[in-house]
Amino acid sequence: MQTVRALLEERLRAALDALGLDSSVAEVSASTDARFGDYQTNAAMVLAKRERKNPREIGATLADAIDVSGIAAKPELAGAGFLNFRLEPAFVESAVAAMLADPRCGLDPVKNPQTIVIDFSSPNVAKPMHVGHIRSTFIGDALARIARFVGHRVITDNHIGDWGTQFGKVIWGWKNWLDAAALERDPIAELVRLYREVDAAEKNDEALRVAVREELVKLQQGDPENRAIWQKVVELSWREFEKLYALLDIRFDEQLGESFFNDRLAPICERLEQSGIARISDGALCVFFPDIPELAERPCLVRKSDGGFLYATTDLATLEFRITEWKADAIWYVTGAPQALHFQQVFEVARRMGWNVRAEHVAFGSILGENRKIMRTRSGENVQLGDVLREAIDRARQIITEKNPELPETERETVAQAVGVGALKYAELSQHRMTDYVFSWEKMLSFQGNTAPYLQNAYVRIRSIFRKAGEVDISKSTVQITDPAERTLAIKLLQFAEVVPAVLTDFRPNLLANYLYELATTFHSFYEACPVLKSEGVVRETRLAFCDLTAKVLRTGLDLLGIRCPEKM
Ligand code: ARG
Repeated sequence: MQTVRALLEERLRAALDALGLDSSVAEVSASTDARFGDYQTNAAMVLAKRERKNPREIGATLADAIDVSGIAAKPELAGAGFLNFRLEPAFVESAVAAMLADPRCGLDPVKNPQTIVIDFSSPNVAKPMHVGHIRSTFIGDALARIARFVGHRVITDNHIGDWGTQFGKVIWGWKNWLDAAALERDPIAELVRLYREVDAAEKNDEALRVAVREELVKLQQGDPENRAIWQKVVELSWREFEKLYALLDIRFDEQLGESFFNDRLAPICERLEQSGIARISDGALCVFFPDIPELAERPCLVRKSDGGFLYATTDLATLEFRITEWKADAIWYVTGAPQALHFQQVFEVARRMGWNVRAEHVAFGSILGENRKIMRTRSGENVQLGDVLREAIDRARQIITEKNPELPETERETVAQAVGVGALKYAELSQHRMTDYVFSWEKMLSFQGNTAPYLQNAYVRIRSIFRKAGEVDISKSTVQITDPAERTLAIKLLQFAEVVPAVLTDFRPNLLANYLYELATTFHSFYEACPVLKSEGVVRETRLAFCDLTAKVLRTGLDLLGIRCPEKM
């Protein structure tokens, strides 16, 4: 079904065309204040500014010309030239009825589906996933779910950091200092220990440095023993990552690590050099960008003077692969803001190579501790995702046990996981991605305010209405609005299909999170004002339909954010 916004924009465009005015300004948005109607447009103001005319005059002409019959009353001209639309009751009722019957909550799939590769999470082998990977993992997964729901073909790719100079140290350590029992207990911790101890020892031990370097060269040349150790390290790390992904309910379509592209690095460099896009400077192969002011002093290094390749080289090979093998129309890289320069360089080189794709760096800020500095553990280390995750579930279990001691043990675990993981994800996704937000257990696990537990609880409470009412077939309900609180809720519900695609415009899952919060509070006001089970006839039928539809939108919306809704909590 078409959204209210799309319908109004269509009518507005027709009016502008008929008046011979530029119809590209036909934008309508939901009003934030009910005093200004349900929807509004500033098209008259945009046109007036451009043509130096009186906005209220253009507004009045437009209000006369636009035909919104069957949708809204004739728009009102307000303020400096806004047109405010107030939806007609019969239209609202029929739109809600159509939404009730639609399993997609009113959202039509896009007409021009794109192939979108989403590169996110991408932890590094032999290192724990730290809190910086949290944002990438949660944002990337939410974007993937939303893009898929909207109708795109999505390929999620976990670009694991499984190659690099650190393996010299890890392999030397493995051969000489490995503690097998520790590896058994906590593989990543043992790998980190090896790396760190070799790294420290190497500092004042020239012979060790040489030995470590040799292990690296042997790995790069395909020495079977070193390849086998590397393989084992990758497997052990991957197994640990997978446990976290399982808890988080996150799956990847592909996980081509950096090593997958090794054979493609030398040929890419040759092509870059032959085409004149890159040139040798001090023995290294570089792409220079004299014509781009921010990059003028920052060439992109693709091959070091010792022949080694770099992060950018791998990303170039990966980017081309995604276009040729997967036919990507777009690639979204969900990675922290500090990598902005890297991606700007890579995208610019790709453009010069003629690789045609819409590549976007979906950047994000930092998570802060209560002291408003980058979050660290007490001993000053990076906070690990695994620890945060376990603590979230433990804390959720405690809260659930307090609030609902009767909940059977088996259900409690599922609920604790949904609430704990949900709280973490929602704390992330309800923020603008560039915001540095303060990590607070109390806040994210609170049952009040803009949190996952609040939304999950709203869902659970609606479901409990149906445990009393019995299951009703809502899809064919008659919708007859008799109370203003119903009308407000109806209009909020209809906006779901407008909000979801808007998330993708600037990669803002927080738009959806905040919408769901507003929906839950709007439902709350409706439920205060309108008795449901005590009402009768068509009033009861309408109200039950509103309850069910709200639950469905909450569940669908939370699912798009990667958050599960328990039936009880
Ligand atoms: N492994 C990198 C890190 O942990 C992230 C990789 C992001 N993706 C990419 N194609 N460069 O910082």
